[in-house]
Amino acid sequence: MTNSNRLIIFDTTLRDGEQSPGASMTKDEKVRIARQLERMRVDVIEAGFAAASPGDFEAIRAIASAVRESTICSLSRANDRDIARAAEALAPAERKRIHTFIATSPLHMQMKLRMEPEQVLEQAKIAIRCARQYTDDIEFSPEDGSRSDEDFLCRVLEAVIAEGATTINFPDTVGYAVPEVFGATIKRLRERIPNSDKAVWSVHCHNDLGLAVANSLAGVMIGGARQIECTINGLGERAGNTALEEVVMALRTRSDHFGLELGIDTTQIVAASKMVSQITGFAVQPNKAVVGANAFAHASGIHQDGILKARETYEIMRAEDVGWAANKIVLGKLSGRNAFKERLRELGMELESEAEVNAAFARFKELADRKSEIFDEDIMALVSDEEHAQEDEHYRFVSLSQRSETGEIPTAKVVFAIGGKEFACEGEGDGPVDATVNAIEKEAASGAELVLFSINAISNGTQSQGEVTMRLSRSGRIVNGVGSDPDIIVASAKAYLSGLNKLHSKIERVNPQQ
Ligand code: KIV
Ligand code: ZN
Repeated sequence: MTNSNRLIIFDTTLRDGEQSPGASMTKDEKVRIARQLERMRVDVIEAGFAAASPGDFEAIRAIASAVRESTICSLSRANDRDIARAAEALAPAERKRIHTFIATSPLHMQMKLRMEPEQVLEQAKIAIRCARQYTDDIEFSPEDGSRSDEDFLCRVLEAVIAEGATTINFPDTVGYAVPEVFGATIKRLRERIPNSDKAVWSVHCHNDLGLAVANSLAGVMIGGARQIECTINGLGERAGNTALEEVVMALRTRSDHFGLELGIDTTQIVAASKMVSQITGFAVQPNKAVVGANAFAHASGIHQDGILKARETYEIMRAEDVGWAANKIVLGKLSGRNAFKERLRELGMELESEAEVNAAFARFKELADRKSEIFDEDIMALVSDEEHAQEDEHYRFVSLSQRSETGEIPTAKVVFAIGGKEFACEGEGDGPVDATVNAIEKEAASGAELVLFSINAISNGTQSQGEVTMRLSRSGRIVNGVGSDPDIIVASAKAYLSGLNKLHSKIERVNPQQ
C-alpha cells in the first residue's frame, strides 16, 4: 500500500480550519465549500467533528448527502459516544471515514487527559474496535505525535493497526517539528512497527514556525507518507495548517523531484480560496503563494521584460493552471434572472429554493443599479450576504448616512433593526467607521470588543465593492462578521451587525482538542 505513488489529499478546512477563532461556518456555507472541494477532486473531506454540536452534526450529514465523489470523514475523540455520533452523521455518505485520535505526548497525557500511558493505549484500541462496527475506513492520530516518546508511539500505533486502523496520521499538533527530523521519525516508525505496511501513513502539520508545507513534504519524501492533511489558504488554529494550494502546486510543479500522482484539478484552487476567504472573513495576504493577488503579478520592469520575451524566464506555474482568469465582467444591469441563475451554477453556488434565487437576484439588480460592472467576486459576495439574511437575523442593516470633512469630527446616523424593531442612532468617532460602530452600539450595547478590522477590495479598481471583516470578542467567544458593499462605511456597518448576529446565536461547540 505504502509503495504506491498516488498521494491522497485530505482536506480539513471544514474541521481544523473551522477551529480558527471566528472561522465558524453555517451548514449551507460548509456544503458550498464541500461541493467546491469535490469539484477540485479532493480525495477525503473532513467535514467536521460530529460531537461538537448539533449544528456540526447536521452539517456533516448534509455534506455526506450532497457529495458523492470524495470520501467524507468526521473527527471523533477516542470514546464510544463521539464515534457513534460520527457514524450517525456520516450514514448517508457513499464513502465514509471515521478519524479518531488521542494524545500520546507525556505533556498532553499528564496535563490534559490526566491519564497514564497504559490507559491511553487501551483507550486507543477500544476506539478502533468501536469504529470498526461502522466502517472499514478508520484513521487514527496520536495527537502531539511529534513530541511523543517513540517507543510508546510504536506500541500504540502497532496496536491500533492490529485493531483495524487503515490510516495512521502523524500530527505535528503544535507546529514544533523541523523537516529532516519529522521525515526521519516517520521513516523510523514505519521501519520499527511490524505491521506498518497495513496502513497508509499520513502527515498533519501546523504552521507555527512557518514549516507546515516543508514538514509535510519531508514526511512524504523521507518518511514515505502517502496522505497529506491540509486546508484551503492554510486556514487553521493559530498560524494555521499546511496550505492545500502550496503543497499541491509544489508536488505538481516539481513532479520531476517528487514523482507522485495527485487526483486534484488544480484549476479549481483559486475559486476555493476565494470562497473560503469570503465565507470565513479571513483575507488572503497579497503575497501569499499561489492564491495571493500578487502571486502572478510580475510588477518589476526587469521581470516584465523577461516574461514578454519568454514566459518561463520568471514564471514557474501558469496562472490559468490554478484558476486565475482575467477578471471578467460577467453580468450587468440588463442581465436576466436565467443568466444570473446560470452564472450561479457555473460558480458552484446553486441556491436551494427558487425563493432564495429570487432574493439573490433582487440583490443583484440593486447592486447593478449602483455598480456598472459586476464580477464573479461580486456575485459570490451577494450570495454570502443572502445566506446570512436567511439565518436568524436579529440585527439587520437598513440605511446609513455619514459625514466627514477635514478638521471636523466625523458623524454617522445608522438605521438598523433589532428583533424586527427599527432604531435610528447617531454617533461620533475618530473616523467614519468608528462613528458608525459607536452609533450602532448606542442602541445595541453589546459589550463586544472589536479585535480585528480589515477592508479588502473584492475586485479591481475604485469601483470595487469593499469587503469588511470585523472580528468581535465577548466572554471568550470570538466571531467574524463579514459585510460587502460598494460603500465601505456601509460594508463596515453590515460587517459589525453580522458579527453581533453571530454573537447573538447561542451555538455552543466543543473543541475536540481541549
Ligand atoms: O493537530 C492535531 O493534532 C489535530 C488532530 C486532531 C489530528 O488536529
Ligand atoms: Zn490539527
